[in-house]
Amino acid sequence: LLNSDKKWLGTPIEMLRRMPQCGQPLPHLRASDSHKVLIRTDLLKEGEVPVPYPSKFRDAWDDITVKMPCSEKNLFPVENEVFLRLNAVSVLILQDAILSYNTAHAKRWDFTALNVLCTDGLEHSEVQYLFDVILPEMVKLALSAPKICTQPIPLLKQNMNQSLTMSQEQIACLLANAFFCTFPRRNSRKSEYSNYPEINFYRLFEGSSPRKIEKLKTLLCYFRRVTTSKPTGLVTFTRQSLNSFSKWESSATQLTRLHITYEGTIEDQGYGMLQVDFANRMVGGGVTGLGLVQEEIRFLINPELIVSRLFTEALDHNECLIITGTEQYSKYSGYAESYKWKDNHKDETDEWQRRCTEIVALDALKYRHFMEQFHPDKITRELNKAYCGFVRHGVNSQYLSAIATGNWGCGAFGGDTRLKALLQIMAAAEAGRDVAYFTFGDAELMRDVHDLHTFLTDRHITVGKDSPFPTTVKPGQLSKSTTLVSP
Ligand code: AR6
Repeated sequence: LLNSDKKWLGTPIEMLRRMPQCGQPLPHLRASDSHKVLIRTDLLKEGEVPVPYPSKFRDAWDDITVKMPCSEKNLFPVENEVFLRLNAVSVLILQDAILSYNTAHAKRWDFTALNVLCTDGLEHSEVQYLFDVILPEMVKLALSAPKICTQPIPLLKQNMNQSLTMSQEQIACLLANAFFCTFPRRNSRKSEYSNYPEINFYRLFEGSSPRKIEKLKTLLCYFRRVTTSKPTGLVTFTRQSLNSFSKWESSATQLTRLHITYEGTIEDQGYGMLQVDFANRMVGGGVTGLGLVQEEIRFLINPELIVSRLFTEALDHNECLIITGTEQYSKYSGYAESYKWKDNHKDETDEWQRRCTEIVALDALKYRHFMEQFHPDKITRELNKAYCGFVRHGVNSQYLSAIATGNWGCGAFGGDTRLKALLQIMAAAEAGRDVAYFTFGDAELMRDVHDLHTFLTDRHITVGKDSPFPTTVKPGQLSKSTTLVSP
């Protein structure tokens, strides 16, 4: 093959580490101050729905936990009767139900997308199934919150290093509530939750954009699945917040291996690797609104990611959110304007009690002026952000999977692909992990980044500057001290 015909370059992907093969045996799941677990760990049994802990609903209404729809303090409680009438048949009744506990928004909220879905988007029999079976089951699921989500859910606030493990069943219950817009105090930008992403789905129902129809189809596929047969796995959400970063200029770390290809996607070919979500600081970005690029698509096909919006405060520069164990329920085609829900997806990812899909939400900076990103402050910020997402303190790098990433920050956020690729390669090296880079169809970018990586590794150039032990470098190979960070 001529070099120009190659579909990939660098290290063969088979040589990169994936979970679960590369991982250490996990210690037993146990709750601690820094890890809240919403289920009974002592009763976990493979293939069985985890048992919520504690057994009775514990009500909390404070500024450290999620305010639940079923709380006694909720001023606009969901009346079971209104809701259960939903067994009847129309978008209008659904709309009335939702507005009955969201009276303040009755004039503003609009349900056009839901109407269009039912008149044009689905077959008649599908609409019937939606109203006869799926929606009533979703109502039941939503109303079962006091039985399923018994423990107050901690808010993952800025500067916290905190994990939260819950069952897929608990997540389904919370997402059913989000669909029916029952989370109190979450509909106004001015509220105490102004620094949190939107969780109630009302914006998904508004307008007549074809995007909304495809989004609704994708989410209804998820709700059909989880109401037909209860998923039995666990999902862990970890907010990682680093207090200090080492100086990039003085790092003597060698670059790690790179596999780069213009074919494939992070989610398909990157199975078992740490998969980067090209995130917004409000995780999930526009998933409940109009957004439909990498992050939103990932949140739609793996909807359990959406529940992170309920409790994850906006990410600061030194933070990321790591989500392990979400399941893919849908297949899609297209991207952005051309996105289409395609089909049910059966997730074959290995699981113990948690699928080993690990996703990290990393929000790049958004650039309005192209040259901004070359400013040293911005470069350091992006390096630190990526490093925060990649590093796992206390885990030997031989147990860490490779990173599956691509044009992070280079679509909606306007970054430069070559610069961002280099910064991610540096951060990955510092975290001791290899990189699988998906250029998303860009063959030239594949060749350029591969050439750059080869140039640097051939010359043993380190992240900060050239090796302090120049014995590994043949004389004459480096004409002057070469560094990647400082000029
Ligand atoms: N696998 C590999 N590469 C991909 C994939 C995929 N599945 N999908 C897209 N790309 P973008 P950003 C490539 O614009 O610039 C959202 O609203 C493709 O080349 O999603 O970081 C968030 O919520 C694409 O152009 O990421 C944020 O608000 C590039 O990745 C904002 O967008 C960048 O994808 C983040 O924007």
